[in-house]
Amino acid sequence: MKAKRYFLAALAALFAAPAALAADLGGEGVVTHAGATVTVGPTQAIFFPAQLSFALWQPSPLWAEVPKPLGEGLPDGWKGLKVAFGEDRGRPQAFIQAPKGTDFYGTGEVVGTLRRNGWQITLWNTDNYGYGTYDSRRLYQSHPWVLGVRPDGSAFGVIADSTYRGTIDLGEDTIRFVFEGDVFPVLILEATSPQDALRQLAGLTGKMPMPPLWALGYQQSRWGYKDAKECLGVAKTMREKQIPCDVMWMDIDYMDGHRIFTFSPQGHPDPKGYMGELHKLGFKGVWMIDPAFKNEPEGKHPYFDEATERGFWVKRSDGKTDYVGRVWPGDCKFPDFLRADVRAWWAEINRRFVSENAIDGLWNDMNEPAVFGGFSHTMPIDNLHGGDAPGDFPRGPHARYHNIYGLNMIRATREGLLRAYPNRRPFVLTRANFLGGHRYGYTWTGDNLSTDSHMRLAVPMSLNLSLSGQAFNGPDLGGFGNRSNPKLMRQWAGFGAFFPFCRNHSAHSPQEPWLFGEETVAAFRVAIERRYALMPYLYTCFRNAAVEGETVMAPVFFADPADPALRREEQAFMVGADLIVVPAFAKNPALPKGDWKVAKLLDAPAEQGPDQAKLLLRPGAAIPVCKPAQHTGALDLANLTLVANLGPDGKATALLYEDAGEGYAFEKGDYRLTRFTVTLRDGKPAVSAETLSGNRPTAVKTVTVRLADAK
Ligand code: NOJ
Repeated sequence: MKAKRYFLAALAALFAAPAALAADLGGEGVVTHAGATVTVGPTQAIFFPAQLSFALWQPSPLWAEVPKPLGEGLPDGWKGLKVAFGEDRGRPQAFIQAPKGTDFYGTGEVVGTLRRNGWQITLWNTDNYGYGTYDSRRLYQSHPWVLGVRPDGSAFGVIADSTYRGTIDLGEDTIRFVFEGDVFPVLILEATSPQDALRQLAGLTGKMPMPPLWALGYQQSRWGYKDAKECLGVAKTMREKQIPCDVMWMDIDYMDGHRIFTFSPQGHPDPKGYMGELHKLGFKGVWMIDPAFKNEPEGKHPYFDEATERGFWVKRSDGKTDYVGRVWPGDCKFPDFLRADVRAWWAEINRRFVSENAIDGLWNDMNEPAVFGGFSHTMPIDNLHGGDAPGDFPRGPHARYHNIYGLNMIRATREGLLRAYPNRRPFVLTRANFLGGHRYGYTWTGDNLSTDSHMRLAVPMSLNLSLSGQAFNGPDLGGFGNRSNPKLMRQWAGFGAFFPFCRNHSAHSPQEPWLFGEETVAAFRVAIERRYALMPYLYTCFRNAAVEGETVMAPVFFADPADPALRREEQAFMVGADLIVVPAFAKNPALPKGDWKVAKLLDAPAEQGPDQAKLLLRPGAAIPVCKPAQHTGALDLANLTLVANLGPDGKATALLYEDAGEGYAFEKGDYRLTRFTVTLRDGKPAVSAETLSGNRPTAVKTVTVRLADAK
């Protein structure tokens, strides 16, 4: 409320005497308007078009907190970006002129090259099987955000604050946002580096909440597991085959007739018993909940009846009739997550669902929302959402709220998990989302295919999601649609093991590693063991994302943002700041200058198998590594190894973050952040350790150094 008052005052003053915005850009179809520029941080300003009112602009879901106006005009040290507002065939647009030679990235969940110059993206959350429709320009999430990296390695970021359907149109050095809705403001942040830009984005839209450690483990899923018995069999085989695994997933198959919050009496008569068995094996269980309820007669589903009675469904344009659309169970009604009371109710029924059945995490799918046979695969844009109660989004059309329907669903789902388990870190995986929605859920990239090209495009796709604030994301490893094959499984696991999110999921075509023969089992095991060996480093990267606003996965150009040769590299990628992953399929990847060396994580020679990714370690860096285990709960840091690549000064440093792996005690100091320094003393590696912060006793008892090899 305070922020609202600030802004109203600032805007009123500015519009009375509009600041002299240099809106001198022409361009085809651009009509410029004088607007106002308000500083909201030392390197951040919001540009407002003249016609904007607070009511049109807020509430906006993307800010962690509404930015506070600090003054009029641009902050000092601004590096010459020009902004103009105008109209394109009656639709509001913003036009940003960037310096020549700028490379563009981000733009959310997209197919195509890492470097986005010349691409056009539609911002309209779309269920897009195989990324095959709409020219793959529209996918499940929308992120009205562009990262620009100038030739000298400095960077800037642009956020367009509109939830309407829109486009991002990137020229060689121009950015154009057009939305099919009201006028909208644009925030620009000026940054010393792309990393700085991402940290600022996290400052504005929120940092990724720290996930539980188990969520970093390898995970097994399939659409089409027959029953609980089959799932348990898969979990047991994982252990028999010694393939580390933390989570078994449950797709819609568990439901009774695909109706949410029900269980098939034949296949899943005892979900809690099943979860108990899984837990005994050291697994967690994540279960799917879609947004829509089957439209059925009274007395069939208590939650459906309750929502009907309380008027919780999305309405048709008349504001009275409940909207009905077809999804998996048949005709369905959709909760209106734009209302605070609906979200509170949803949180409550999710709380019950997980706590009654000992479920660990939730998977929200189809929440674009997808509607079979609906225009544009969703509900009509004149359907109505929202209300007048505190916390509601103001009453408005689906056109305004489509892109944030999923975000508001996962917001409520997360709340449900928090209510069920106040001392645990909620895990929600979502398909649909919007810029800023990483505060509520983590992402997988929807329905890819088991093809070589989809395996490769997973890298730039996850990179651009990471560069859009979604640090915890990854594809269906092995591919979702079509049938996978042994070579594809091995290669995909070889590098997919290093994505932030690592889950094998497929549509009906069974994809457990042992179904592809012994060679694949062996290669898969090595790939996943490498992930578990790397867990101390990976977890530290997640801490850096959650606490510092960094990315987990990053493009290679993060290693040297001023090196133009790295800007298009999209086969190799970085994990954290010190490690480059070169997938087996990569041909002549562009790598940073300097003496990066091969890091070995395991003792086994199989680590160099033909399908495994090569790992390169930054000169001057060391990474903490442990012995792999069958699940994250069994990892032991007592005998830590530091894989080190001594820099020209003969030193290498590593960071290690330790905490309970679950819960919130780390927020009160129950963690330990340690810096290790490796040097050579009399030709032998020596290690010193310094606690940077936290008061948790370290689990580390001995430290062994393994020097990285030549390239
Ligand atoms: C679509 C999702 O993208 C996919 O992962 C899931 O298996 C199916 N829906 C069935 O629930």
